[in-house]
Amino acid sequence: MTRPTQRPAPGPSRGSPGRVGPIVVANRLPVARVRTADGARWERSPGGLVSALAPLLEGSGGAWVGWAGAAGDAPEPFTDGGIDLVPVALSRAEVNLFYAGFSNGVIWPLYHDAVRWPEFERSWWQPYVDVNRRFARAAAERVRPGGTVWVHDYQLQRVPAELREIAPAARIGFFLHIPFPPVELFGQLPWRREVLEGLLGADLVGFQTELGAKNFALAATRYTDAVQGEGYLSYRGRRVQYGAHPISIDTARYAEIAARPSVRARAQEIRRTIGDGRRILLGVDRLDYTKGIDRRLSAFAELLERYDHALDAVVLVQVAVPSREAMPDYAQMRGRVEQQVGHINGMCGDGGRVPVHYLYRNLPQEELVAWYSAADVMLVTPLRDGMNLVAKEFVACRPDGDGVLVLSEFAGAAKELDQALLVNPHDVDGMATAFEQALEMPLAEQRRRMASLRRVIDRRDVHTWAAEFLDALES
Ligand code: G6P
Repeated sequence: MTRPTQRPAPGPSRGSPGRVGPIVVANRLPVARVRTADGARWERSPGGLVSALAPLLEGSGGAWVGWAGAAGDAPEPFTDGGIDLVPVALSRAEVNLFYAGFSNGVIWPLYHDAVRWPEFERSWWQPYVDVNRRFARAAAERVRPGGTVWVHDYQLQRVPAELREIAPAARIGFFLHIPFPPVELFGQLPWRREVLEGLLGADLVGFQTELGAKNFALAATRYTDAVQGEGYLSYRGRRVQYGAHPISIDTARYAEIAARPSVRARAQEIRRTIGDGRRILLGVDRLDYTKGIDRRLSAFAELLERYDHALDAVVLVQVAVPSREAMPDYAQMRGRVEQQVGHINGMCGDGGRVPVHYLYRNLPQEELVAWYSAADVMLVTPLRDGMNLVAKEFVACRPDGDGVLVLSEFAGAAKELDQALLVNPHDVDGMATAFEQALEMPLAEQRRRMASLRRVIDRRDVHTWAAEFLDALES
């Protein structure tokens, strides 16, 4: 398990001793149960959200309310690594109806520009409301009068309103990690008013981008009795702030891992063995249909056709992290990606070397950083993405300032990382051209662009993000 670097966050003494930490409410707890030789233990999950919030919670009187990841009874509340954890139970039916159904079968595709058709299945709505109420109750039991509750993401959009009913004195913040869609799409949702009213229970609703925030305000004024104010909404006698609070990464931590001699040695080994004289293009994604892995592979196949001696010139490494495997859309996408990889390797490999290396697994953090360090070109080409932290992680792992980031213009990160090579992920030919341009980019231009990208993540890391959000909420 990796622990975040402990260092003071900017802003007024976040995480300082004596300060009461927030109650964090997220679908998943920041720990996962892992099997060991003599039973099982809890292990802290990697990832930006956990590393940002853990220092604010440790020994602070705050707590993290979330699902432990398995169907059935929840464990009793417990403390791990100084954080009070409050598990919420989901029955097997609720895992199907609330998690796979409404959260990931309706909201997830709808909010990602309906790149898959959302199934507006009526029987999924009530379980969503019921589970959200359960999370709200668990938070209400923990929060002190006037205390802060910070609710996260699309699975829990009804929590702010449910919580306001039972804990009206709480300061309630909500942050949406995924995009908030244009009103023409959002308006399709049969439960659009109830979802908006859920969010409007908060004092502050945060989004990844300005556009997401605008979409929300437009939907709220169209479908509820919220009234637009100057940068806020008036709703039933309360003021609801909303705005863009783009999430970031633990920049210093990634840079520190990238500088470790063992990681540098592993990166060299990757260049020697997998690269073997070839330039390495790298993709790292959860295996999700929003990530555009299939179109990226098509663009890579197009690139191979354009290059003479392609097999001696380039290699693509695609890391696909298993995700939501029980859902048919995800299983189908996996089949499609694996078929494409097989096709490309079958057509272009020579028995010894293959043009695509495909890893279907979650990589330990040090290994991931070694891959980021070894790559010549990083391909982050989702069809739609709230932010995409892989893009920021890659930049943090390039201390020498070389390497090229190819980034989808439909990732939230493109708003900040505008010195990446921006691409339209639907345009296969255009992407292949961008891959070529990346491979041919002079070192001086790589360094100039990378320095600008690096400034973005140095200026605002995940600690700044959390501190700024909480300051805005509590001010
Ligand atoms: C995205 C969502 C998170 C979610 C994660 C993993 O990043 O924004 O809320 O936790 O995917 O998905 P899972 O369904 O496994 O929790």
